[in-house]
Amino acid sequence: MNFRDTMKINDKGVLEIGGCDCVKLVERYGSPLFVMDEQYIRDVCRAYKKTIESTYGNGNMAYASKAFCCKAIYEIMQEEGVCIDVVSGGEIYTAVKAGFDLNNAYFHGNNKLQTELKLAIDNGIGTIVVDNVDEADVIDRLARENNTIQKVLIRINPGVEAHTHSFIQTAKVDSKFGFSIKNSDALDVIKLLKSKKNIRFAGLHCHIGSQIFDKKAFALAVDVVTDYVAQLASEEGIEVDELNFGGGFGVHYAEGDPKYNVEEYCDYVKLLTLTLKDCVERKGIKMPKFMIEPGRSIVGEAGITLYTIGAIKDIKGIRKYVAIDGGMTDNIRCALYDAKYEAILAGRANEKCNDVVTVAGKCCESGDIIIKDLALPKAKRGDILAVFTTGAYCYAMSSNYNRNLTPAVVFVKDGKSAVAVKAQTYEDIVRADVSLDYDN
Ligand SMILES: Cc1ncc(COP(=O)(O)O)c(C=O)c1O
Repeated sequence: MNFRDTMKINDKGVLEIGGCDCVKLVERYGSPLFVMDEQYIRDVCRAYKKTIESTYGNGNMAYASKAFCCKAIYEIMQEEGVCIDVVSGGEIYTAVKAGFDLNNAYFHGNNKLQTELKLAIDNGIGTIVVDNVDEADVIDRLARENNTIQKVLIRINPGVEAHTHSFIQTAKVDSKFGFSIKNSDALDVIKLLKSKKNIRFAGLHCHIGSQIFDKKAFALAVDVVTDYVAQLASEEGIEVDELNFGGGFGVHYAEGDPKYNVEEYCDYVKLLTLTLKDCVERKGIKMPKFMIEPGRSIVGEAGITLYTIGAIKDIKGIRKYVAIDGGMTDNIRCALYDAKYEAILAGRANEKCNDVVTVAGKCCESGDIIIKDLALPKAKRGDILAVFTTGAYCYAMSSNYNRNLTPAVVFVKDGKSAVAVKAQTYEDIVRADVSLDYDN
């Protein structure tokens, strides 16, 4: 657990987040319940923004809204004066409905639909990150129809791949994302974009992976990308105004992961900006605008999920299953990536952990296990289980498998709570269903 000012165990032995008692949150809103710590989200955004300003100058961060998307998060990002990254019409629509200024949004996707591009351009999207050749014509036409010049970056594949504790440099061009800089793919698309009247080519984007702890991978990416920028300038006379280095900063999920406070997270940003400054000077290139796109490191540790414990099945000498009222429908990451989590009994947080259990979800899948071999006090039906670091890619990836309902999301701050997303109801679940009525 990565406890901090806004998350603590109070003197009654109850977990508090954002000044709110977690057991009382469940009494009020029901469970499962996603709880998001607003102050933590704002603190990380402010720290990243300040670090970019103080160590580099021209730049900003874009919150990668794929990590967690709803109107409330866009309202917060708008207030914090940061950009966002969006990857679908649904995210664009949500941002527009939240009143987010789309001029500060970056639109990604390896297969953006024409309807999505139209929605984006009609609503004044600031930047489109081009990730296939076909987009060029569509963007050019839509921008012309809107009487505008559309700013674009291209997503490149720098051949640096990183995940968690290791990274590799590869010449591999086999990825559904990005254009390779190891062959002429990237240059060809840049030339194509530059030939379009209603498109302004502004620069490059890369994203080298997720949950990265080895910061050297980011420094290497900056080096490789700026080599390419220098090559574009010297060999092709092409100027790059902006570089976006994506997201991927690793967060603490479970034992073995580093625990960073907000200042320590800024070390990722500092390393990127300082390496970029150094490369710009050494390689004699124009100083570009600097962008990053973190998602997980902003909302991941801000979120916890509260569940109510139900059935307990003790298979003597083998395993004790403690079942919760949610599971893979609100947290698919365990089944999908074998992701590890930590959890405590929110109302009995000071009690000795003298039992070892496996936390099972309620879905009809044997793989619906949230945590294996978790040390807990002897749990009983009705106890509240708090699972940590569930703010990113949990609600965002939730499903209605088995027609389980998507839980509510509440934000907490200074001892107050507010609903950001209402819990689904059974009526919501059948809303789009219709009885068959074949046309003849
Ligand atoms: C293009 C792009 N930018 C940003 C992110 C955010 O990464 P993270 O949430 O790990 O910071 C992702 C994640 O997949 C991504 O694909």
